[in-house]
Amino acid sequence: MFNPRQTIVRSVSPEHPDAAVISEAAEIIRRGGLVAFPTETVYGLGASALDGNAVESIFEAKGRPPTNPIIVHVASVEAAQHLVLDWPPLASRLAERFWPGPLTIVLPKRPIVPNIVSAGGRTVGSRVPAHPVALALLQAAQIPIAAPSANRSSEVSPTTAEHVQKALDGRVDLILDGGPTAGGLESTVLDLTVDPPRVLRPGLVTIAQLEAVLGAIDWNEASRDRTGGGPARSPGLMERHYAPRAKLQCVDRKSAAVVQELLTLGNRVGWLRLRPAADVPEGIVVIDMSSDADAYAARLYAAFHELDDAGVNQIVVDLPPQGDAWLAIHDRLRRASAN
Ligand code: TXA
Ligand code: MG
Repeated sequence: MFNPRQTIVRSVSPEHPDAAVISEAAEIIRRGGLVAFPTETVYGLGASALDGNAVESIFEAKGRPPTNPIIVHVASVEAAQHLVLDWPPLASRLAERFWPGPLTIVLPKRPIVPNIVSAGGRTVGSRVPAHPVALALLQAAQIPIAAPSANRSSEVSPTTAEHVQKALDGRVDLILDGGPTAGGLESTVLDLTVDPPRVLRPGLVTIAQLEAVLGAIDWNEASRDRTGGGPARSPGLMERHYAPRAKLQCVDRKSAAVVQELLTLGNRVGWLRLRPAADVPEGIVVIDMSSDADAYAARLYAAFHELDDAGVNQIVVDLPPQGDAWLAIHDRLRRASAN
């Protein structure tokens, strides 16, 4: 059961966060409370990473399975080094290139990281977020902050404070409203405990960007470990995830006809459209998506939230282009469409 909380929302400038608001948030974190805050990817639901009880309340608030480890956010490379047994040169190169930014690095954890953070596993994933509000909060709190995305488990990640409030009102002490997040999809999770390093979850840092630093990496969709028992290697790989309430299907051509048929069968239909169509059937909720991958990513979850709010029960998605820049988008669409 979760502990009911009085949820306060404070708006904060995303570029120059007000020190008084940040210090209020940091104080809540320091005394074991829950604060939702913007990062450059999505909003996170944060608690002191060194306080097992505080981290447990993240699991309760989200309804998160205890087998799913949580990313630890830190203010600096030095702070990340404190969390792990060993910091290999590869980690330094990655941090130099991608931090602050949307890359989560998984390494063997030190005992100061409570087992609940790692879901009983031996590793911890950490990153330095590239958002002034997140960084200010980390600096003011002076402790690492464990933060999964601020949604209920398996639902769509939040890219605005309103999304957080919709999902977690009464379950979080404070929401820092820094406006919509720029990235829109989550960080890339990279396991450095194996050789070659292995991408556990594709994200805003692309495979090609990683390969430019690392050389070969392990990224084979077919080889991903989805078996149960023990902490999953990366439960963000669980099949249905990042999912709107509506049933979602990707369609590679003639989507107007698919939309029309769903409508004829009495569905309320939403359409994430990439290719302008001449004839849009009436009564459809159409969201025009960008053909630029970054802009598409930034919009995707907000579009899911809008379609859920509009009460559609079927979502048709024009299949996006292939290619490195679109990989994380395809990954999320596939998980959103899993049964
Ligand atoms: O962009 C992001 O990563 C956002 C922001 C808030 O930082 N956070 C986020 O957290 O997406 P979450 O909990 O929704 O997803 C974290 C993913 C999960 O798939 C989890 O299984 C994986 O990272 N993960 C975390 N720690 C891990 C570890 N030690 N080993 C393997 N996978 C890990
Ligand atoms: Mg999540």
